[in-house]
Amino acid sequence: RTVYVNGEYVPEDGAKVSVFDRGFLFADGVYEVTSVLDGKLLEFEGHATRLERSLSELDMASPVTKDELLEIHRELVRRNDLTEGMIYLQITRGAAADRDFAFPDPEETPPTIVLFTQSKNLADSPAAKVGMKVISIDDIRWGRRDIKTVQLLYPSMGKMMAKAAGADDAWMIEDGHVTEGTSNNAYIVKGGKIITRHLGSEILHGITRATVLRFAREAQMEVEERHFTIEEAKEADEAFITSASTFVMPVIAIDGVSLGDGTPGPVAQRLREIYLEESR
Ligand code: PDD
Repeated sequence: RTVYVNGEYVPEDGAKVSVFDRGFLFADGVYEVTSVLDGKLLEFEGHATRLERSLSELDMASPVTKDELLEIHRELVRRNDLTEGMIYLQITRGAAADRDFAFPDPEETPPTIVLFTQSKNLADSPAAKVGMKVISIDDIRWGRRDIKTVQLLYPSMGKMMAKAAGADDAWMIEDGHVTEGTSNNAYIVKGGKIITRHLGSEILHGITRATVLRFAREAQMEVEERHFTIEEAKEADEAFITSASTFVMPVIAIDGVSLGDGTPGPVAQRLREIYLEESR
């Protein structure tokens, strides 16, 4: 694989980042995951815009312009013959001379930018046919989940807790309400109405979320943006998640409680079809 590091395309084995990089030492960095379908980038504009916002919220400047970023994405797709999968992008506050909690002077310490590709079957995902099982766990992440930082230890632990419980993912609960999945936005469907948490600093503003809600409204489906409890979710007709890497993925059980007849629900399946059709 060819990866991109600080202005250069290099073989992955030759790619280097300093041990003093603040992404490595402090998780002081942000990221984006953009999917590729039929060799085409999905939602580049949305991801690039959210990246700019994440950077500015952390007082970081992008080392590249939006146009340059698009070109790097395209070049990596070309060089790696990527037809289906993801492009991972990370920008950190760079490698300061010493380990110091205070941010380094940006004039002296340029940010580190890394991109790589990952090939994966997204459209024909076996999980989408069966549906996912989720468990609920406490949301003990920091309060600025609207910034897409690389602090992913707790979501990673949540995924392990799910696996240990024989499930596929975890939905996180704060003050009795579902915030989101470990790496996706969460939805329930009741009486034909799609319910998903309203935007705020408690969740990541999913790019797929925005698109899926637009498609749902265009298809005359009813959408309600509000928080919901895990008890309400367990009584829902169906549930699903969205993210760049899963598109729309049905959820068939929560904490061992089957939803509906325990198979992917019609609304989730329909939205997944619409999303795939519109993306191709
Ligand atoms: N995760 N919520 C969280 C906590 C996420 O990490 C993600 C994305 C989403 C969905 O956002 P989007 O639709 O823009 O992908 C919601 C990416 C895919 C990841 O970490 O791999």
